[in-house]
Amino acid sequence: MSEFLDTLARNALFKFDPETAHGLSIKALKSGLVPGCRRDLDNRLAVEVAGMTFPNPLGMAAGYDKNAELATPLSKLGFGFVEVGTLTPRAQDGNPKPRIFRLPSNRAVINRLGFNNRGHAAALENLSGQKRAGILGINIGANKDAEDRIGDYVAGISAFADIASYFTVNVSSPNTPGLRNLQTREALSELLTRVLAERDRCAGKIPVFLKIAPDLTEPDLNDIAAECLAQKLDGLIVSNTTLSREGLGDDAGKNEAGGLSGRPVFERSTIVLAKMRQRLGADMPLIGVGGVESAETAAEKMRAGADLVQIYTGFIYGGPLLPRRILRGLSKICDREKLKRLHDLRDIRTAHYASLPIPA
Ligand code: FNR
Repeated sequence: MSEFLDTLARNALFKFDPETAHGLSIKALKSGLVPGCRRDLDNRLAVEVAGMTFPNPLGMAAGYDKNAELATPLSKLGFGFVEVGTLTPRAQDGNPKPRIFRLPSNRAVINRLGFNNRGHAAALENLSGQKRAGILGINIGANKDAEDRIGDYVAGISAFADIASYFTVNVSSPNTPGLRNLQTREALSELLTRVLAERDRCAGKIPVFLKIAPDLTEPDLNDIAAECLAQKLDGLIVSNTTLSREGLGDDAGKNEAGGLSGRPVFERSTIVLAKMRQRLGADMPLIGVGGVESAETAAEKMRAGADLVQIYTGFIYGGPLLPRRILRGLSKICDREKLKRLHDLRDIRTAHYASLPIPA
């Protein structure tokens, strides 16, 4: 697909409300209207994390492919891995529409979707119809009306044990009331104990990652890090969307309720990432998410401590050619900095970001 067609398609999509545009982009990807790009492998971008070999460190974050329909077409766009979901055991509609808002002058989005998805069974069916393409993350959550929230996560592990490359336990969506309370030490302890026991029971060594919010205090980070280490968790994803509205200027959408993503969340999520790298040590796999939109922002996440990065909002604004552009840019960074492996960038600036306060 040429840059011209890419820009044309994106401008057309932006004429629709964000949720309709999202639906259209999913249809286009599913139907093959967006042709895959050639996979030009640069071995310097490959990285081994949690026992998996990633062809490159750039992943699609959870929330774009809620129902696991697009793992194959997304990996054809260049992504080194695709995380689908968040999936809950039973289908649910989520919050009333409208519930996604663009903040174009900030290259940001606010969403309050509330885990709209068609449930485990439908996702399993969608996945069974796809050729397995690359590393597949299954992001699991709880139904809004679950009687045993933790039981819903446990059900996610058993449902996808035969197909997941890794699991993400999402306790950081701001759009399911009370969900973020699962990040407190006591609740997290019970959650991880039950989830990891189920993993050991039925899913062998499949890695389990925890996805956290960027709206945490230093004592919260201490608690989460201590629990992750005590339970020998396989990795952490930092971060989900923020409730903060700092520094948005007078963008019309900024007063909508929900989680903010994109450029304004870059600094906050990168600071929290670096603080967690310091607390968890060099060996814990970390995935940096929040405001990645270019090769330079992806590389900066790695300098702050990330082994892998993910994007979502950057893809909305950047379009389907963005993953390929980012990968080319990462190769150029390897040339410029004479790196044998891109991963050698990791932690160069962890101390700097970790020394900054988490913004209000
Ligand atoms: C999300 N995100 C998200 N995360 C998650 O774990 N489960 C989900 O279902 C969703 N849903 C979702 C919907 C929409 C519309 C957006 C914009 C985001 C959060 C996403 O995966 C990511 O953590 C944040 O958006 C920050 O990254 P970006 O968007 O700044 O690259």
